[in-house]
Amino acid sequence: MKYVLGIDLGTSGTKTVLFDQEGTAQASCTVEYPMYQPHNGWAEQDPMDWYNASVTTIRTVLEKSGVDKKDVAALGISGQMHGLVMLDEKGQVLRRSIIWCDQRTAKECDEIHEKVGKARLIEITANPALTGFTLSKLLWVRNNEPETYAKCAHILLPKDFVRYMLTGDFATEVSDASGMQMLDVPNRRWSEELLKTLDIDPSLLAKVYESPEVTGHISDEAAKLTGLSPETLVVGGAGDNAAAAVGTGVVEDGKAFTTIGTSGVVFAHTDKLAIDPKGRVHTFCCAVPGAWHVMGVTQGAGLSLKWFRDTFCGAEKDAAAQLGVDPYDLLNKEAALSPIGSNKLLYAPYLMGERTPHLDADCRGMFFGLSAMHTRRDLLRAVMEGVTFSLADCLGVLREMGVEPAEMLACGGGGRSPLWRQMLADVFGCPVATTVNTEGPALGVAILAGVGAGLYRSVPEACRAMIHQNPAQQPIAENVPQYARVYGVYRQLYPANREVFKALAQL
Ligand code: XUL
Repeated sequence: MKYVLGIDLGTSGTKTVLFDQEGTAQASCTVEYPMYQPHNGWAEQDPMDWYNASVTTIRTVLEKSGVDKKDVAALGISGQMHGLVMLDEKGQVLRRSIIWCDQRTAKECDEIHEKVGKARLIEITANPALTGFTLSKLLWVRNNEPETYAKCAHILLPKDFVRYMLTGDFATEVSDASGMQMLDVPNRRWSEELLKTLDIDPSLLAKVYESPEVTGHISDEAAKLTGLSPETLVVGGAGDNAAAAVGTGVVEDGKAFTTIGTSGVVFAHTDKLAIDPKGRVHTFCCAVPGAWHVMGVTQGAGLSLKWFRDTFCGAEKDAAAQLGVDPYDLLNKEAALSPIGSNKLLYAPYLMGERTPHLDADCRGMFFGLSAMHTRRDLLRAVMEGVTFSLADCLGVLREMGVEPAEMLACGGGGRSPLWRQMLADVFGCPVATTVNTEGPALGVAILAGVGAGLYRSVPEACRAMIHQNPAQQPIAENVPQYARVYGVYRQLYPANREVFKALAQL
């Protein structure tokens, strides 16, 4: 039996899972690390935290599983997209990574639109300039830290930095590279035109592969540290969302999933290039060679609940530790005691600004309608409902583009909550299912590794062998109109506050 390894480099931690050829997890390990927020709207992480977490988790799963390192045919890495890692000519990290949810680059987005032209930018990169994407982060460093920019010899995405440390190769792949905003997304290669217009040296960029292609193998040094064999192959892998698509079998037209991780995403596969002219959802290359996906992003999905847990739920955290249960299970039970609409309390999840549908770096989260009768359970439920409504905004844009999924797969930490899944089913008005294996992105890149190592002929064939689905949760007929009324009020919150958010940002 051969085995494949999936590494998922998330925002809250790195999770590594070893799978057999049928998709059964043999061992799993997660290591957490901090996110630094030196100013409101900024977000940074230390690339060495990612690498150290990868080394520890790989070592641990190999030891726990008892699998012979020679039988680990290949590994794939998935990760948080868009983060900017800058290395000097010796391959040393130059500064902390500015990550996907950082919002400091509004000026640089204007600069990109001015120099390239918004319409041409969308033709080339399939998206308007966004504060979340890597290009505006790179220009921010050039404008604000010219001495760092001058020393920079390589720029990499988070997962590609870990690949570099494991293999010595400067490589990336189309799905994650799409989110750098320097890729010609229709043609799946770096855009010479864009790089020239913005005066960016193409030699800074890594070689681009398709996601299941082999990019190299484990270096001797990394083999010693991790316990892997130097013969283990490393494939392109994928950005976390493209990887989650493979890990839930969303690899054909008509299929879609929603993930509630730190961010929230509604994602649909498309064999034909489809672009929202208003740029409210992203179009990226997907991990299936020759295909794309469209996705809407909620910046603060699981992040909202994590923020609430860490800030207000110390008692539940202590109780969970004593009972040996997950604190989120206790929070879910508590939220379920509040009715639909949380006793007329609304929450907007804009803790880190918002992408779909508002594309606004300045908006911030809010509770709306607080009354002296509200208790913590109402606030908790409002957070979960607000995230669900924001995801419904994403699905709404996809529906405008003609994407009408018959069923939604749910994944990510939030997708494990039956209460949250029922909210999704009731608000989306469609069945919501889960896969038996809930490892999402880690399984997705392990599948890509299996294809790269020749264990399967294609990504869809590997998905058929490795992914199994649970029965779906159906919308509850009487809940649907109740949520629809609350959602109607939620949709008025952002337009009513757009200008006030700007005033707040300027304080
Ligand atoms: C996608 C995005 C997030 C990150 C972090 O565009 O920014 O989903 O990949 O998970």
